[in-house]
Amino acid sequence: LVQGAMAKLVPLAPDSWIPGGVPDPLIVRKHGAIGKPISRLDGVLKVQGAARFAAEIMLDDMVYASLAYATIPRGRIATLETEAAEAAPGVALVMTYRNAPRMNPPGVFGSSPTAVGPSDLPVMQDDRIHWNGQPIAVVLAETQEQADHAKSLIRVTYTPEPSTTLLSKAKAAGSAPGVFMGQPLLDEIGDAEAELVKAPHRVDHIYRTPRHNHNPIEPHGATISWVDGALIIHDMSQMVSATAATLADVFGLKPEQVRITSPYVGGGFGSKGLWDHQIVGAAAARLSGRPVRINLSREGVYRLVGGRTLTEQRVAIGANADGHLTAMIHTGIAVMTPHNNMPEPFILATRSAYAADSFKLSVETVEMNMLANTFMRAPGEAVGTFALESAIDELTIELGMDPVDLRIRNEPDKDPISGLPFSSRNIVEAWRAGADRFGWAKRSAIPGGHRDGEWLVGMGCATGTYPYYRMPGAAARITLTIEGKAIIEVAAHEMGMGTSTTTAMVAADRLGLSIDHVEVRYGDSKIPGAIMAGGSQQTAAIGGAVIAAHNALVAQLLKLAGNASPLAGLSVNEVGSEDGALVKLDDPAKRETYASILARAQRDSVTAEEQGSQPLELMHWSMHSHSAIFCEVGVNAVTGEVRVNRILGSFDCGRILNPKTARSQFRGGIIMGLGMALMEETQFDERNGRIMNPSLAEYHIPVHLDVPEIDVIWTDIADPHTPMGAHGIGEIGITGVAAAVANAIYNATGKRVRDLPITLDKLL
Ligand code: MOS
Repeated sequence: LVQGAMAKLVPLAPDSWIPGGVPDPLIVRKHGAIGKPISRLDGVLKVQGAARFAAEIMLDDMVYASLAYATIPRGRIATLETEAAEAAPGVALVMTYRNAPRMNPPGVFGSSPTAVGPSDLPVMQDDRIHWNGQPIAVVLAETQEQADHAKSLIRVTYTPEPSTTLLSKAKAAGSAPGVFMGQPLLDEIGDAEAELVKAPHRVDHIYRTPRHNHNPIEPHGATISWVDGALIIHDMSQMVSATAATLADVFGLKPEQVRITSPYVGGGFGSKGLWDHQIVGAAAARLSGRPVRINLSREGVYRLVGGRTLTEQRVAIGANADGHLTAMIHTGIAVMTPHNNMPEPFILATRSAYAADSFKLSVETVEMNMLANTFMRAPGEAVGTFALESAIDELTIELGMDPVDLRIRNEPDKDPISGLPFSSRNIVEAWRAGADRFGWAKRSAIPGGHRDGEWLVGMGCATGTYPYYRMPGAAARITLTIEGKAIIEVAAHEMGMGTSTTTAMVAADRLGLSIDHVEVRYGDSKIPGAIMAGGSQQTAAIGGAVIAAHNALVAQLLKLAGNASPLAGLSVNEVGSEDGALVKLDDPAKRETYASILARAQRDSVTAEEQGSQPLELMHWSMHSHSAIFCEVGVNAVTGEVRVNRILGSFDCGRILNPKTARSQFRGGIIMGLGMALMEETQFDERNGRIMNPSLAEYHIPVHLDVPEIDVIWTDIADPHTPMGAHGIGEIGITGVAAAVANAIYNATGKRVRDLPITLDKLL
């Protein structure tokens, strides 16, 4: 998610654990918890309904908010009548641009290390409308129903201004070079267009992907109060620290005057950041002098929270008769707004997927007047691999080659664009293991060659790749008590994927404690450091910080141990932790328990806080998670209906820390990929920029009956250059899935569908 973070690196002392590729000792030792299928520690509370989510927190004297949304894509508010709403029962406040407090626009994501605004538009500060769905008024009332009713009484008229809501019009206005997190989305090696023309075999097609809206099961909301001039938001967040910092800027507060808590999140996928509702809610709370609950309806999430944007991608590949790739061209456009900075970076996976003699990769952006698009699970890679991996499949037809063979044949021995060595890349093993387990050898290479009654049956495959990141700024605080318990504090997030459990496992192994002696505190901007649950990097960021804090803790323990200890004179590098004790690594008889050290030092506890090392590994290696996805579909020859019969994900993501939560992450990603392949599409009214299907009744996602048993396997080969040997697993799951489905549909029917979703009308 954040590659630009690399630019800010400061080189560290050469003896720090990562720059030279020195493996963290933890990953080569035997472990207690790591690698075990441990159930989520937060699971019981959630199943019991005892976990309190942000929109369930009750505050004294609280009022409920309801938002009114603009109905034109661009222009000005001409008249805005709020008197009837103000006079409605239970209403405490109606806030519009006319009475909202003055606020700074949020810094757009990437504009500074802490800015996380999805756009840099001012929020409710003037009469201007920038998208169809923009909040124009908020009503506060004693109950949600009173607020919703009063909101319905607001009358507004507009003075429309020219707008761009048609893709053809946006394209005609010209495109601009895409820049993602400060880096241009442009790579050229050799003359790929010339190589393409010369190539004996080639494919050259356009692929299209639609808008997608975010649909976490928990709609966005917050419970907000001002206490002694400080802003406290119980939020659902995947970025508490950065959200607090951005809100401090918006309201002109000192950083310590904003606190965001977020202990539980009902799904994020990139959407649980800062949007207009927290800002409007906080402003209204300040104006009314009362705490505010602002909880978006499902429609509200569609109006206010951006998602994935439209892409049109050209993939052209040239190859020799033996399948060697001579030209790889992946270019195209992503649609954006004039006020955000998230061009769907669909070329990222193509940078390292295959060796080729020449490359031309670029993303250009065009602008439309719409809701700011944002991160959505594997932004770039999810849609980019649909195009790339469909085109590779098309090339296999052209060459008469097996899709797995062609991919293995073009396996690069180093990163084709950066030239860096791969830190750990075992995709060929993943392909072979996956093909074997799936029964790929039974596939008929002839499209339409397998019919079972009304059903045409086909198999397809695709690869996925998603970068390994580790953002700087993560910190951890470890407190060890004389009772032998450890408290780990990290400004991290639990969105249901198992982060708090995995953090406890990693800390327990580091400290040589059982997992039930470890308590993890997280989801609070008051905790030092900034960790984002994004870019599939949270676990690595936490791990790096826990390692640093643990080293500092051991240093303190050795100091406290003093000369009377069997550990006297030892340095941090000479000891490890085991069974609640520090142990000399090469002479385990020399040991002393934490309790004994603390007792002799007359201490109840010891605390260490440290930042994780700079992520210098990213400068030395090309680092990625990898997948090979295999899929079997049935396409009904009469109705065009597609059923996914079987799907297998074979992953290469370094060491898998917790097989149980990891399997669930992979499956969730694959399910989202099935939706992307077959169902998900935001219906955008091109006349007025209105989203027409803002509900789960009309915006289709897979339900249980759409999802077959999902088989998941992995290589489990530790990467020696990451904390704990792990790579990210949050986003790789969706990547490649849409192409695997599309390729299976081609194999079943002989029909190549190049625009998502593959609905039945495209197959008849
Ligand atoms: Mo993710 S799209 O980085 O939450």
